[in-house]
Amino acid sequence: MEQIAQRAATGTLPSWEQVDGIVADAYRYASQDTGGHVADYIPALASAEPDLFGISVAQTDGATHGIGDVDVAFTIQSISKAFVYALVCDLIGHDSVRERIGVNNTGLAFNSVIAIELNDGHPMNPMVNAGAMATTALMPGASAEEQWEAIRSGLSAFAGRPLRLDEDVLSSEASTNHRNRAIAQLLHSYGRLDRDPSQVVETYTRQCALQVTATDLAAMGSTLADGGVNPITGERVVSATVCRDTLAVLAANGLYERSGEWLFDIGLPAKSGVAGGIVAVCPGKAGIGLFSPRLDSAGNSIRGRLAAAHLSRALGLNVFASEAVVTGSASQIVT
Ligand code: DON
Repeated sequence: MEQIAQRAATGTLPSWEQVDGIVADAYRYASQDTGGHVADYIPALASAEPDLFGISVAQTDGATHGIGDVDVAFTIQSISKAFVYALVCDLIGHDSVRERIGVNNTGLAFNSVIAIELNDGHPMNPMVNAGAMATTALMPGASAEEQWEAIRSGLSAFAGRPLRLDEDVLSSEASTNHRNRAIAQLLHSYGRLDRDPSQVVETYTRQCALQVTATDLAAMGSTLADGGVNPITGERVVSATVCRDTLAVLAANGLYERSGEWLFDIGLPAKSGVAGGIVAVCPGKAGIGLFSPRLDSAGNSIRGRLAAAHLSRALGLNVFASEAVVTGSASQIVT
């Protein structure tokens, strides 16, 4: 972990120029790392250009910053889980989603089958594959096609532009996702899926194959940071309560079995995807979109993590970092 001064999360962001300089510093710092490997368990992801790297920051006041490959498209993958969860909570209410899916960390890999068996078929949380597919199944819609359209248009509203499918990645994952199909069948056997398991896997695979850029991820994150209103388009996408609930789930589960370390080092709710994207959210301040395809052994972007750590410290984003109120300031208010 880089040794740089920790600013408190209280207060506001530095000036636009300062933020821009810090984003450039984070890019330079994280660019030095060439460790990790691109994902290859989905064959179409194996040909990703490993050196791509982009950082985008979208402030809740509408100001933006970007450096590097911020307009290169990649598939959203597991990051979709966060936004589908938010949409489903907004449509059917958090309580029923919590009862069906849960909010606790499994401590196991994102595609763990053992986690389901250990918990009597309970999916545990909406960020692992079991919980994500169970959440996708809860999306209202008379047919799988209607559910898909609600997901595609909802994620597009978060991004502030129409998101399109990467057909190559979709067909590559659809022909190799035997494990996800097994997970959906297992959930079905425990009575945890009310819809046809094959259709649920298909819709989930599609949501993972939506193309985004780091700029899109920053806009999507800033919508969660801004009480559910996209600060760039001004459109309300979900309620403020749903944002709070989603960020709590991301804090506990967004980086899978590494969520504790991420929260300790970076102090921000975040979600990663195997194509190399990460979205991180500082409530009230900004959304951060990161993209670099080289991953660590848990499937999280290495440069993305380094850049997030730098930004969190230098911009004062860690939600656990406070500063003491100046003694005597309260008595000045109470006259
Ligand atoms: O379910 C899968 O295998 C992928 N479509 C998504 C996995 C993923 O992004 C895991 N995150 N790091």
